[in-house]
Amino acid sequence: MTASPIALPATVDARTAIYSVFGFIIVYQILSRLYNGIRDYQLSTSNGCQPPPTYPHKDGVLGLHHLLTLIKAKKINRVPTAFCEMFDDTGSNVNTIGHYVLGKKSYWTRDADNIKAILHSSFQDWGLPPARKATFDACLGGGIFGVDGAEWEHSRAMLKPSFNKTQMSDTATLEKHAQKLITRIPDGEEVDLANLFPLLTMDVGTEMLFGESVDSLSISELKQATEFTHCFDYIVHTISKHMSLPFLTRLPDPKLKLCVDFVNRFAEGVVDQTMSSEEKTSAGGKKKYIFPTELAKMGLSQKQIQIEVINIMFAGRDTTAALLSLIWWYLAKRPDIVSKIRNELEPLGSRAPTTEEVKKLHYLKNVVNEVLRLHPINPLNSRTAIRDTTLPRGGGPDGQSPVFIRKGQQVMFTSSGLQRRPDLYGNDVMELKPERWNTLKPTAFEYIPFGGGPRICPGQHLALLEASYFTVRLLQEFQSVEPLNEGPFQEAFAILVTSGDGVRVRFSRTK
Ligand code: HEM
Repeated sequence: MTASPIALPATVDARTAIYSVFGFIIVYQILSRLYNGIRDYQLSTSNGCQPPPTYPHKDGVLGLHHLLTLIKAKKINRVPTAFCEMFDDTGSNVNTIGHYVLGKKSYWTRDADNIKAILHSSFQDWGLPPARKATFDACLGGGIFGVDGAEWEHSRAMLKPSFNKTQMSDTATLEKHAQKLITRIPDGEEVDLANLFPLLTMDVGTEMLFGESVDSLSISELKQATEFTHCFDYIVHTISKHMSLPFLTRLPDPKLKLCVDFVNRFAEGVVDQTMSSEEKTSAGGKKKYIFPTELAKMGLSQKQIQIEVINIMFAGRDTTAALLSLIWWYLAKRPDIVSKIRNELEPLGSRAPTTEEVKKLHYLKNVVNEVLRLHPINPLNSRTAIRDTTLPRGGGPDGQSPVFIRKGQQVMFTSSGLQRRPDLYGNDVMELKPERWNTLKPTAFEYIPFGGGPRICPGQHLALLEASYFTVRLLQEFQSVEPLNEGPFQEAFAILVTSGDGVRVRFSRTK
């Protein structure tokens, strides 16, 4: 007689299966780390590379403690400063570090030579991080901002002629929207410019990109226009969430789908309309420059035009609004700077400047440069190595050896880290000092508010023109501006830097 087998309860079987899966994952992780470690060491020493210092994590390679530090920094609006501290906490004169998040190694750098290698000299070795591609695919349907390789090359080549500087400097369009902005600012009463600037840049952006402005500053009578802005804002908010927590791209988000569909239908409608209608003229009487028409001339299909136009709106709307907000946060607090700009504006009287006149406002240019130095709108960016490669500097005890980067590893580069380096910008780096630009001549990769290399921002001239033009017009219209924000600048960060407590000011037409 054989003994009957003891039937195990189902929960025990399930538990064994779970333990086995976890056990397998842990063993796999240990073995692959060991394998990668040995391979990295061999490849790295054969190239004369040495590892950079590792950030002094309090919890070994887990990196959870530092992740919490960054989350806390986000809550109290000091993320860009926390980026700088990562290097300073690792050691003095350290500009490239190894860093762990949940046990996964990445690298951080604020070394201009390394940033130059990533963005320019070894451009072919680097691609966009998979999270950026997935996010932009889900939210914008692809397009220049979220693709790399041949797809990006094609997009960029198609868009390039349309970003031609002279065509995009239509100050007549800017003036029309400047007047609408001014009517929204009550004389002698509190106004939060951080609420108005995104409406302004949305209005200018839609006019430039679609040929027709959604006119949100004119207290949106159009329900469609308000809906467009609302949906667009939700998409931007989702992109920012997904970029920090990439696993969210895998979760269903019905509202995102509705918003993406709406924005696409809207863009499809206006692109269709723009391309079938007669040539328009701008407020200045010149032939109106309309993006979709220019892109169609390059042979892009309706669908491609629609996707690229939404990408450009994403790239240009909130960034330019954030720059204007930063400029005005400081102008309200710094009458000394305002008075120097006013001196420069004297020859104009109350007349609107031309593009050429704006470009000649040297002190104002210094102010904008300095604001973008201290608070680059995109303080953090990253690329993933698409083949084994090296960074030219940062390894070894003196930080002068190249650093080996394995295919698939991510390197984060921080413009706030770079542009607040005392050895590059002086010991007063945290002070907003436009005068430093009288003598300062940073190299192309020591100052990167618009990125660099082949993917450098194609909209930078338009952004600088817009920011300067609207600043001039506000200063000409109002004789004084009083700050209502208290305390230092709150660096709110979610992909972009904005003011955490708005830009509350009181303008007055009299002194
Ligand atoms: C203050 C305003 C702006 C800032 C700070 C800014 C910054 C940047 C940066 C840093 C990049 C490079 C991103 C990367 O390398 O991953 C970029 C790319 C881009 N920007 Fe801007 N930008 C601004 C305004 C604009 C405007 C007004 C437009 C268009 C009207 C625009 C269109 C684009 C496009 C299409 C790209 C992608 C280029 C490519 O991947 O080849 N940007 N921008």
